[in-house]
Amino acid sequence: MSPLHPLARLRASLVVLFLPLALQAAPVPTKIPAAGPGHAAIASAYPLASDAGKEILAKGGNAFDAAVAVAAALAVVEPSSSGLGGGGFFLLRRSSDGLETMIDLREMAPGAASRDMYLDRDGNPVPGLSRDSALAAGIPGEPAGFAHLAKKYGKLPLATSLGPAIRLAREGFPLYPRLRGGMEFKKNAFLKTPDATRVFLVDGEVPALGAIIRQPELAASLEILAKSGADGFYKGAFAKKLVDGVRSLGGNWTEQDLANYKVVERAPVIGHYRGARIISASPPASGGVALIDALNILEGFDLDKVDKVTRTHVIVEAMRRVHRDRAVYLGDPDFVDVPVARLINEYYAAGQRASIRLDKATPSAMLPGVDAPSPGPSTTHFSVLDAKGNMVAATITLNFFFGSGLMVPGTGILLNNQMDDFSVKPGVPNGFQLIGGDANAILPKKRPLSSSTPTIVAGPKGLMILGSPGGSYIPGMVILGTLHFMDGRNAQEVAGAPRFHHQFSPDVLQFESDALTPEERKALEARGHTLREGTRKWGNMQVVTWDYATNKVEAASDPRGAGVGLVY
Ligand code: GLY
Repeated sequence: MSPLHPLARLRASLVVLFLPLALQAAPVPTKIPAAGPGHAAIASAYPLASDAGKEILAKGGNAFDAAVAVAAALAVVEPSSSGLGGGGFFLLRRSSDGLETMIDLREMAPGAASRDMYLDRDGNPVPGLSRDSALAAGIPGEPAGFAHLAKKYGKLPLATSLGPAIRLAREGFPLYPRLRGGMEFKKNAFLKTPDATRVFLVDGEVPALGAIIRQPELAASLEILAKSGADGFYKGAFAKKLVDGVRSLGGNWTEQDLANYKVVERAPVIGHYRGARIISASPPASGGVALIDALNILEGFDLDKVDKVTRTHVIVEAMRRVHRDRAVYLGDPDFVDVPVARLINEYYAAGQRASIRLDKATPSAMLPGVDAPSPGPSTTHFSVLDAKGNMVAATITLNFFFGSGLMVPGTGILLNNQMDDFSVKPGVPNGFQLIGGDANAILPKKRPLSSSTPTIVAGPKGLMILGSPGGSYIPGMVILGTLHFMDGRNAQEVAGAPRFHHQFSPDVLQFESDALTPEERKALEARGHTLREGTRKWGNMQVVTWDYATNKVEAASDPRGAGVGLVY
C-alpha cells in the first residue's frame, strides 16, 4: 500500500497528468507508403463475407470492388445487421493519389415524413411507431452506394462483385449461432410478413443450427441491381414493386422518393493525435467528430503516466462531453449548419478539458445545453486493405436487428427502422437512449444522424482501419480502439480489449464486466460516477493494421462476434 495520503497521491497524479500545451506534439502529416503493403487484409463480421472479398481480389478487383462484395455478402449472411433495405457509410482512401473521401449512403426520410409523425395527438411518441412499423423505414442507400463505389472507384463490373452474394442468396448458407440468436429475438416481427416468415422460419419457428437459409427473392433483387445498376433498383418496375409492397405494409414511400435518392460524397473529418492522422466519418455520421474531439481533449493529458482509474475517469469525461455536443449540434449537414470546424478544433477541446476535474465526475446535468443500453444493436462494420494500399472502412446498417423485421413482398428485402435515429421529439431518447434536438429533427429527404465511426488512423509507424456496430456505443469503442493502437497494441488486442462507455445521457458509466476490477469500480464511484455493469459485451469491431517498416498486415475480428480476419 502506498504510504501517501489519498489527496497527496491525487496531487502527484495531477502533476504528471496535465501535459503542458507547449509540450504537446505538433500535428505532423503522416506518410503512408505509396507502394502499398504487398498483402491484402479483410476483417468482417462473418467468414463467408470475408471470403467474398477475397474472391473478388483474386479476380483482379481492388479494395473498393472487394468492399462491394463483402457488403453484399453481409446483406445475405448477416441479414440482421445490414442489407439492400439499409444504408451506411464507406470511408475510402485511394493509394494512387491519396484521395480520402466518404461515400454517404445513409437513408433519406421519405417526402411524406414530418417532424411530429411519430407523436400522438397529445404530443407523446407512439410506442414502436418509429421502430416496428413500415413507417420506420427511410429510403435505402446501400444499392446506390454499391453502384457508386463500383463505378467510380472499382476495377470490375458491379455484376462481378455482386456475384458471390447472389450465389450465397440462391444456394444458401448454414445457420450459425449468432444469427440464430438474432432470429429468435426477432421471431414475432418475422411473423408479421409472409415473406420474412418463409425466409427465416420453418413452421413458425427458428430452424436448427446448420439449417440452410436460402433467399431466392433477395438473389433476384441483387440480380436486378447487377444487371441494371442503381436505376434498375430506384426506378421503373422494381421501384414500383417496392413502393406497392411498402405501402401494403402501412408505409409511406413513393416512387418519387426512390427516384430522388442520391449518394453524396463528403469530405471526411480529419484530426491529429500523438503524431497520427485521424481520418473519420463526417456528418450525418456523428462518430468522427466525437472521436476527434475526444482525442483532442485527451491529448492534453499524459494518459501513459496515470493509474487506470484516473485514465478511465478522464476518458469517460471526454466521452461525456462529445456526446453532449452530438445531442446539441449534430444532424444532416444538407439541412443544418453543423459547426464541425469548431467541434474538432484544439482550442475548443482545451475549453472542454479545462472543465474536467480529476477528483470528481462532472454531472451531465451541469453541462450546458440540453434538457437515457440498447435493445440489441445491429449494424455491421468491415475493413479492407488491398496490396496496393487502397483501403475501405465501411459501417452499414438496418438500425436494430433485422431493421423492423418487415420484409417487402417478393423482394427478399428487409425494411430498415433508421427513422428512429432522428430525434422524434426534442429530449426524448431514441432506441439507443440518445437524445437530440432541432438539428436532428425529422424533415422530408433529410438523413437521420448516425453514430457510425468508420475510421483510418494513419500513425507515424503504421496504420489501422477500424469500426464497429453498436449504435450509441460506437464512437466510444473507436475512441478506445484508437487509444489502444496508439499505445502499441496489435489488431487482435484492439478488437478484443474490454470496453467502457459514457454517452452524456443517461449519466452512467457503463462497462463490460472484465473492464474494471471491484477496486477500480469503487474508486470511480468515489469520484462521483454512477456505474452500470453491462449484462453482456458489446460491439463487433473489425480491425486491419499495416506496419510500414515490415509491411506486416494483420486482420482481426472482434472475439465477441462470429467474424474472421483474413490476410493474403
Ligand atoms: N442506426 C445506428 C446508427 O447509425 O447510429
